[in-house]
Amino acid sequence: MAIEWNEKLEIGIQEIDTQHKELFKIMNNLIEACNSGKGKEVVGNTLRFLKNYCIEHFKTEEKLMEKHNYPDLEKHKLQHYVFTQNIDKIYKDFEKDGPRVHIVILVNQLVVNWFINHIKKIDVLYGKHIKEHAEK
Ligand code: FEO
Repeated sequence: MAIEWNEKLEIGIQEIDTQHKELFKIMNNLIEACNSGKGKEVVGNTLRFLKNYCIEHFKTEEKLMEKHNYPDLEKHKLQHYVFTQNIDKIYKDFEKDGPRVHIVILVNQLVVNWFINHIKKIDVLYGKHIKEHAEK
């Protein structure tokens, strides 16, 4: 089933919301490919996208948090680090074993579960912090 963007996922910083939406788009491509039996063909590109995405997206967020003296920066960075490690591990398995079904499933689960929760519960907090401090 496709993942749908909704306003609860918005953190209120346009650059970040745009990047998050981009992630939804690529994941929906993978989900759609899986539904039509083409998940294995698409998972390699998705993983390559995710590797670059993590570097760029996490760097953008961390710079923003730093700039605005976000108190939970280190905790947030740790979450990014763990996710990046997981993607790297899956990518290595993909390079070694090829596009096995379990890799497709892992990518789906990891990104859909981890990222949606991360955006909803963790990213929103620094978004709130930045907005509150900008208003002062
Ligand atoms: Fe949007 Fe903290 O990742």
